[in-house]
Amino acid sequence: MKFSIASDHAACDLKNHLIEFLTHQGYKVHDCTPDVNPADSYSEAADRVCANVLSKECDKGILLCGTGQGTAIRANRHFGIRAALVTNDYMAEMARSHNDANVLVLGARLTTATLATRMLELFIKTPFEAGRHTPRIERLEQLL
Ligand code: RB5
Repeated sequence: MKFSIASDHAACDLKNHLIEFLTHQGYKVHDCTPDVNPADSYSEAADRVCANVLSKECDKGILLCGTGQGTAIRANRHFGIRAALVTNDYMAEMARSHNDANVLVLGARLTTATLATRMLELFIKTPFEAGRHTPRIERLEQLL
């Protein structure tokens, strides 16, 4: 599995921690964080990760900012992206099993490195349940 990851200025330390964790686990990681521009970097970060996932250059995306909200909002404007802002273990599991999320979003100001790593592990190992969730996922892609 290959990950695309990016953060804004508020989440660089947590991003680096997760890159180290993933690399140590043997995963490939593409860090596409833009040059730090505090005024605007979270949308750019989201756009880059989403492009990597949609082109299938990477299997999953990971986005981080201070709260996770800016990157999540921007990421979900990309058709085909299901970005889940995750704040605990249950959310990490549900994001995959019910929502088939393809981008994990974390808020660096809301979590410890230990919790973030555990949520990432759950996100990686939890499969999509499919079944009754498949039409719900398909409905997400319908235009308004
Ligand atoms: C930066 O202060 C903060 O606004 C940003 O990291 C993010 O939380 C936005 O949603």
